[in-house]
Amino acid sequence: MEQPHVDPSLDLEEEIARLKSERNAVILAHYYQESEIQELADFLGDSLALAQAARDTDADVIVFCGVHFMAETAKILNPGRRVLLPDLDAGCSLASGCPADRFRAWRARHPDAVAVSYINCSAEVKAASDIICTSSNAEAVIRSIPEGTPILFAPDRNLGRYLVEKTGRDMILWQGSCVVHETFSHRKLLGLKARHPKAQLIAHPECEEPILAMADFIGSTTKLLRYAVSSEHDELIVATEPGIITQMEKAAPHKTYIPAPPNNSCACNECPFMRLNTLEKLYTCLRDMSPELQMPVALQEAARLPIDRMLALS
Ligand code: 13P
Ligand code: SF4
Repeated sequence: MEQPHVDPSLDLEEEIARLKSERNAVILAHYYQESEIQELADFLGDSLALAQAARDTDADVIVFCGVHFMAETAKILNPGRRVLLPDLDAGCSLASGCPADRFRAWRARHPDAVAVSYINCSAEVKAASDIICTSSNAEAVIRSIPEGTPILFAPDRNLGRYLVEKTGRDMILWQGSCVVHETFSHRKLLGLKARHPKAQLIAHPECEEPILAMADFIGSTTKLLRYAVSSEHDELIVATEPGIITQMEKAAPHKTYIPAPPNNSCACNECPFMRLNTLEKLYTCLRDMSPELQMPVALQEAARLPIDRMLALS
């Protein structure tokens, strides 16, 4: 979606606040959104906290500043509320790398297995899964499955491999990955660590194995934020989307945060999908009540049970 033309004399922050109250809307935003959107959010969080906030809201309208699968989850948990996403093209490489027909065929080849899907997948894949997880609760979800039961895990092979190691459970992994978390350069990180011997490397479990192997702490975005703020370490190398650094700097401004370097000189450590949402699009979507997420009711109902199972464990 192109950047909409907006009257440059408008104070967008003020307009968004006015429209939000007129529409009785709530703005939910992921940590990977640009800082001006983070500033305007009523609730900021990781995938799990955002799903919980969506479940608990009593607003009439949810404006989801995140990506498509997150807005879908909010709609599934709120069939009666309108869910807006400033840019409907805000997808996710994990979700698009796991088409529902291929996922269902994969499941059919393993009829005895429990299918655990990472929340970064389409509603169709959720509907064909037994239980959903996020990076915050994945370990608890895997441990809730009786020992000896075969497990299919989709779509992130990096998170999957990390969980196999953590839980000792053997899992069959879908071979998907996140374009952002696979961009970090192991070689450059080794150099950075050598130049900053006191710095701790903190990493999201969507990163590749060599990065996770050298990390001092691994966790979801919320866990990385808590660790960065509360640990005694003053220098942190952050191997995830750099949007999270906004909140780290806000909560512990005296510390130094170094974004983990990507393989080349691109800005590919920024999620190209999350960053499609802009302040202008947030304003026009509240003004026009569009784009709105639409989903067949049968699909919403089918995808709800595996999400509810996850929420019951969280
Ligand atoms: P969390 O929000 O669970 O940390 O996941 C990060 C992510 O990549 C979201 O797309
Ligand atoms: Fe998907 Fe990766 Fe972007 Fe998260 S950071 S939305 S996993 S592409």
